[in-house]
Amino acid sequence: MAEKQRAVVAIYPGSFDPITNGHLDLIARGAKLFDRLIVAVLQNTDKEPLFSVEERTEMLRETISQYPNVEVDSFNGLLVDYAARKNASVILRGIRAISDYEYELQMALMNTRLSPGIETVFLMSNEAYSFISSRLVKQVFGLRGNISGLVPPVVERRLQSRAIEK
Ligand code: PNS
Repeated sequence: MAEKQRAVVAIYPGSFDPITNGHLDLIARGAKLFDRLIVAVLQNTDKEPLFSVEERTEMLRETISQYPNVEVDSFNGLLVDYAARKNASVILRGIRAISDYEYELQMALMNTRLSPGIETVFLMSNEAYSFISSRLVKQVFGLRGNISGLVPPVVERRLQSRAIEK
């Protein structure tokens, strides 16, 4: 008798302040790998964010609308507790370079310790996006550098309107 297959739910957590084309590439690839992918914006980040959680989730929703199995949410508290509430068995994270590895390994091991059933799946960044980070995008934009091709158009528009407001 064929075994009943359980849908695999994955969480892609992050600050997404703001979403970059590197994040979007990971979402597109994650959408193919998992039955359901929840992009989850951390609410209580220690970092002083540029965009509010509401703005970040709005921008994400606008950019992921073509993926029927991807949704956007926000969370606070422990990621593994949020994953349990969502019946997720996988945490998806991207690795751009060796420098990401140490931090990602620590988080993955801590999450496994807190919740042994959870698996962290790492995807290597597409090389075209491996140098992009939200932090550098904000820095380059703030210094009037060109950020086209690094972030989706919705983010570029929001950054421009922020600059005009100032
Ligand atoms: O995009 P970021 O800032 O690298 O994402 C970091 C994130 C949100 C994945 C991480 O800070 C997180 O999971 N925070 C929730 C708190 C938590 O669960 N901490 C213990 C495990 S490391």
